[in-house]
Amino acid sequence: MITENLYPSMTTSNDYIKKEDLYGAHNYHPLPVVLERGEGVFVWDVEGNRYFDFLSAYSAVNQGHCHPKILRALHDQADRLTLTSRAFYNNALGEYEAYVTSYFGYDKILPMNTGAEGDETALKLCRKWGYLKKGIPENQAKIIVCEGNFHGRTITVISMSTDPESYGGFGPFTPGFIKIPYNDIAALEEALQDPDVAGFLVEPIQGEAGVYVPDKGYLKQAADLCKEKNVLFIADEVQTGIARTGKLLACDHEHVRPDILILGKALSGGVYPISAVLADDEIMLCIKPGEHGSTFGGNPVAAKVAIAALEVVKEEHLAENAEYLGKLFRQKLGEIQSGMVETIRGKGLLNAIIIKPINGKTAWDVCMAMKENGLIAKPTHDHIIRFAPPLVITEEQILEASRIIRTTIESFAS
Ligand SMILES: Cc1ncc(COP(=O)(O)O)c(C=O)c1O
Repeated sequence: MITENLYPSMTTSNDYIKKEDLYGAHNYHPLPVVLERGEGVFVWDVEGNRYFDFLSAYSAVNQGHCHPKILRALHDQADRLTLTSRAFYNNALGEYEAYVTSYFGYDKILPMNTGAEGDETALKLCRKWGYLKKGIPENQAKIIVCEGNFHGRTITVISMSTDPESYGGFGPFTPGFIKIPYNDIAALEEALQDPDVAGFLVEPIQGEAGVYVPDKGYLKQAADLCKEKNVLFIADEVQTGIARTGKLLACDHEHVRPDILILGKALSGGVYPISAVLADDEIMLCIKPGEHGSTFGGNPVAAKVAIAALEVVKEEHLAENAEYLGKLFRQKLGEIQSGMVETIRGKGLLNAIIIKPINGKTAWDVCMAMKENGLIAKPTHDHIIRFAPPLVITEEQILEASRIIRTTIESFAS
């Protein structure tokens, strides 16, 4: 029997954790910290402890927690009209479509909700283009993807995955993908020989795989090869986009303009699930009424929230801040004196340390100790710690956070 808690104010982190454990599916393994409030780069737990947030909800909160301008847009629109479905027009969507297409320089947007849906949408769009424009025989279209990719959790998306944790036990899988090593131009060149290839889907930096930054020139060469072979270059910028890597898009570092661009996460500043696929008419108009959609995609709240979130990125110069502070951050991480630090890599404010376990202490132990010292981050793949703070972080804050990371790692004697 579950009894009511007579002293709700005395609920501790442990109580919340136990409740999630009891009633929620066990599909995550969170750090044991229970957050109840956020502002800018900080979050507070239910005991009142303050932490630097160095995950930013997997780069969804680039604009900082509870940004007042984005919240105002959310509240104002929620008071008027929240959802119409696309069965009718609403008076916010067109404004957003005009704004976002001019912001990123494309003819059209197809609005969705989650990143995985954005990827699914891009795959459907690419296949349709392959049949209608490239003349690929029916049901033969192939899309090249990269080993180590992460594009989300749906069946088709995990059909592209090479990570057994993602796809194991979930077959049968969607066919039509060619998997090649990441950052390997020769492999791409070879795969592109197949005339039934419609697209190449790539993350400009592989985030979930552990912040793998490809060689300089890889994206440009890949995009050029795709153009040569009449294959669509599709960039999944769900994690790397919206100023995270020091430019508005990570592809901007190499002046590459994807044929199809997928955005999500920080498109909403983390207050609402909003994703988008952008492309020019030649591609986007291959999808006709009734062929794709989503009940919530392009709803008026999402439209207003996304406009505000994108305005904040420009008004507060978040790309420039990420570029400048990213360099400083990597420099400070480089000063850590510890055999635990194997590699430091990243771009802008998407960075990672590869941890070499010492005395049985792993990346998880480091994250637990950093939490005790006031900074939260999460290991990916056991031995990698990703550091991705909100992009509104200041120089003083990045220096303080760097000190916490350094003293924590150095406290594990080598
Ligand atoms: C590159 C990339 N694509 C897609 C996704 C999936 O996004 P969502 O979790 O919103 O479905 C993620 C999530 O981490 C991602 O990093």
